[in-house]
Amino acid sequence: MLDQFGRTIDYARISITDRCNLRCVYCIPESGVTLFDHADALTFEEIVRAVRLLANLGIRHIRVTGGEPMARRGCLTLIEKIASVPGIESVSMTTNGLLLRGHVREAMDAGLSSVNISIDAVDPVLYEKITRGGDVHTAIEALDEAVGAGLHAKVNAVPVRGVNDCDLANVARLAQHRPIAVRFIELMPVGCAKTLSPIAADNVRALLERELGELHPDTKTRGHGPAVYAKPDGFMGSVGFIGALSREFCAGCNRVRLTSDGQARLCLNRPDGLDLRALLRCGEGDAAIQSALQSAIYNKPARHGFGETGDARRMNEIGG
Ligand code: GTP
Ligand code: 5AD
Ligand code: SF4
Repeated sequence: MLDQFGRTIDYARISITDRCNLRCVYCIPESGVTLFDHADALTFEEIVRAVRLLANLGIRHIRVTGGEPMARRGCLTLIEKIASVPGIESVSMTTNGLLLRGHVREAMDAGLSSVNISIDAVDPVLYEKITRGGDVHTAIEALDEAVGAGLHAKVNAVPVRGVNDCDLANVARLAQHRPIAVRFIELMPVGCAKTLSPIAADNVRALLERELGELHPDTKTRGHGPAVYAKPDGFMGSVGFIGALSREFCAGCNRVRLTSDGQARLCLNRPDGLDLRALLRCGEGDAAIQSALQSAIYNKPARHGFGETGDARRMNEIGG
């Protein structure tokens, strides 16, 4: 469907849990985290009903996010249910990969179309420090399992000044001999990330060019997101940049979000949306809920407004 600014909205990011097996420094505090009550999390039936109504409104692509989506029991069963909703053309997942290792084939059989795996450093000590305990070998094994099985895979890395700058070229080199894109995402000031320093996409690009040589434009389409891609000489794969702040892409936004506690969010940085859980649980019929969703999506805000507005939610609660 079209929103009030004429943007085609055909992509929904559905966070299925706020829980995660890691504690990345820019995402979740090390301790003292309050998580959603289990009773507030949408059930699989509620999520699938929401997807059905979203599909009626023209949503074609679903991305399952978290927290860590694989941390929710039955994640692959849910993906299978979502993939079989009429109108849904692709179901992707954004994951840290650790719990996906050993399950890629099962995920593909369930209908998973592609996977984005977060790997912020390839140096094992640095990765362990950033994720507060993760093993980078497991994440890379999951990546290789996906590539080996022919699943479309990309890598996400969030450059943070003074944290992983020294390892970014090595992260990019994950695409040297693999047919994947490694994307560098500008750190957005959400939750714990507010106290850390981002590195603008152009600076990451310059840093990579110093180490890898000139980057050539790469216009091949990958996924349905806002990344722009480029190719270093001699690379099988590509690198990509998501300049959420320095190259705002809101004018071409195609997406809405659903949090694991059932709030339809119309933008990553906008707390206002629709309490879908309340509607799903008050006995309201499909037509009324669909119409409420339609009007919420129509009124999607023009832009994220980082620096001007925001809310107290952390990234693991929003779903990225
Ligand atoms: P594909 O290109 O289809 O793979 O999707 P994607 O890149 O949007 O998905 P992914 O979950 O890997 O997100 C990558 C980064 O982009 C994450 O840091 C997200 O928070 C960020 N992102 C995704 N959607 C938006 C958005 O609407 N606005 C902003 N500002 N950032 C977004
Ligand atoms: N800014 C940018 N990206 C972030 N992610 C998590 N928090 C932030 C942030 N503050 C990334 C994760 C994952 C994706 C869902 O979002 O690393 O790749
Ligand atoms: Fe978990 Fe992803 Fe957040 Fe890291 S960024 S703590 S992997 S949800």
